[in-house]
Amino acid sequence: MKTQVPENIKSIVPYPPGKPMDELEREYGVTNAIKLASNENAWGSSPKAIEAIRDTLCDLHRYPDGSNFYLVQAIADKLGFSPDEVIIGNGSDEIIEFLVKAFVQNGDEVITSHPSFLMYQKVVQVRGGVNTVLPLKNMRHDLEAIFTNITDRTRLIFLDNPNNPTATVIKPVALYEFLSKVPEHVVVVLDEAYVDFMDYDMQIDVYSLIKNSKGRCGVVSLRTFSKAYGLAGIRVGFGLMSAEVAGYLHRVRSPFNVNKLAQVAAVAALGDTEFYEKTLKGTKEGMEWLQKKITLLGCTCYPSQTNFFLVDVGGDATALYEAMLYKGVIIRSMKAYGYANVIRITVGTVEENQRLVISLTECLADLSYNA
Ligand SMILES: Cc1ncc(COP(=O)(O)O)c(C=O)c1O
Repeated sequence: MKTQVPENIKSIVPYPPGKPMDELEREYGVTNAIKLASNENAWGSSPKAIEAIRDTLCDLHRYPDGSNFYLVQAIADKLGFSPDEVIIGNGSDEIIEFLVKAFVQNGDEVITSHPSFLMYQKVVQVRGGVNTVLPLKNMRHDLEAIFTNITDRTRLIFLDNPNNPTATVIKPVALYEFLSKVPEHVVVVLDEAYVDFMDYDMQIDVYSLIKNSKGRCGVVSLRTFSKAYGLAGIRVGFGLMSAEVAGYLHRVRSPFNVNKLAQVAAVAALGDTEFYEKTLKGTKEGMEWLQKKITLLGCTCYPSQTNFFLVDVGGDATALYEAMLYKGVIIRSMKAYGYANVIRITVGTVEENQRLVISLTECLADLSYNA
């Protein structure tokens, strides 16, 4: 084979997914593994979504609705947008791809932070764009540095708010001030995958920002059904933006980008307030309980506005991650992100959280951390 692959593709490091539970059980000979590594919903999926999926199973010989009509309508109605301001993606990941495809060509610049969600930089690299990657400051997006690095070639700025992996947010006042200065040729993408878990007074008024974009930069909000709605496995997310920006994304979108099951599941999940509230309550209670218990073990827990949080374990995070795998508990080491002693934990069910604390206690003792 004499393949001719461009350098920008060759040099991409594939996205590192969390370890699958089956693989862990096979490799480490453990049973009943639990995964608290990928910020998924511990309470499963909305029962109404599952029912909607069942009701649609006999209709899979037909293509899905390419316009995502009912889902677009349901989101628009719920959030007060007009349908032409809503884009649906095969996960919000896909909308990140649409944005880069639509706005970035060879040599154009995209500003992101490090560490933050890894997909932005990867997609820019595929497109032949230039990644301007700026370090977080005190684990937060450094808006001053981002502003200073805007050039005539800057097309997009990605801000995950809350940030993954630090679970920190941008203060609304600071963001509004920043947006008022960003030049009009730039589109600022607020990736709000975890918005449902944020304190209300920290949430950004994306409605006003998108509706009143005259004379300033474009703003896009990305949301997902993967977290608070428990539909990570079926892949569906959405974006809110001006009709003009949405029009460009429709140009690069494939006609049936969101499958039929995902569409009906998302519509049903949006209306399932009971499941949504249960998720938020369970996450809040689980977060408080876990942070209290883990602090008592001598570790430092960082505040979080999401369904996951960082913990400084006082020793090598990857060694701890490995030790936890032998207990059948999957978490994430943040060593590769530049935080050598830090792990990331997703809040689980009461039973999962208890199991995590027991395993963590044993592993910290075995490794003599915090001794
Ligand atoms: C900040 C952030 N954005 C986007 C995503 C992707 O979400 P989706 O499942 O909708 O593609 C994730 C997933 O973990 C994330 O953490």
